[in-house]
Amino acid sequence: MSELKNRFRSAALVVSFTLLPGFGGAVYSADSSTHSDVAAAGCTICHGPKGHSPGAIPSLTDLSPEELAKRMAAFRDGTAQNTIMSRLAKGFTDAEIAQLATTIAGWN
Ligand code: HEC
Repeated sequence: MSELKNRFRSAALVVSFTLLPGFGGAVYSADSSTHSDVAAAGCTICHGPKGHSPGAIPSLTDLSPEELAKRMAAFRDGTAQNTIMSRLAKGFTDAEIAQLATTIAGWN
């Protein structure tokens, strides 16, 4: 009976630990390169595998990281307009754009 109680207790501990608010997020964002890898993977849907576009959408690997970051910021700040990119870029801070640019530069 007491063994069963202990089992229940440790199971409850595991559950409450994993449900701690922010715990998963803290582990996830602790490695920022993983985070920007995930964000950059989304770009490949339109900009092609590893940023090499097979179609009309510009390739990302033709741009230097500085230029890529500048164009993302321009979409975000409204200096450049595009139905898709203007909306998408609004989700990124300067630091996140810089990380994205570094990640994408590594695809070359
Ligand atoms: C749903 C499709 C789509 C997704 C997803 C997407 N883009 Fe774009 N992107 C476009 C289109 C379309 C253009 C061309 C805009 C134009 O010419 O005005 C563009 C243009 C750009 C440009 C300017 C390229 C140039 O040569 O001027 C950059 C930089 C860029 N995207 C970065 C990104 C990054 C970084 C991501 C991922 C976070 C991303 N895009 C995700 C569709 C997309």
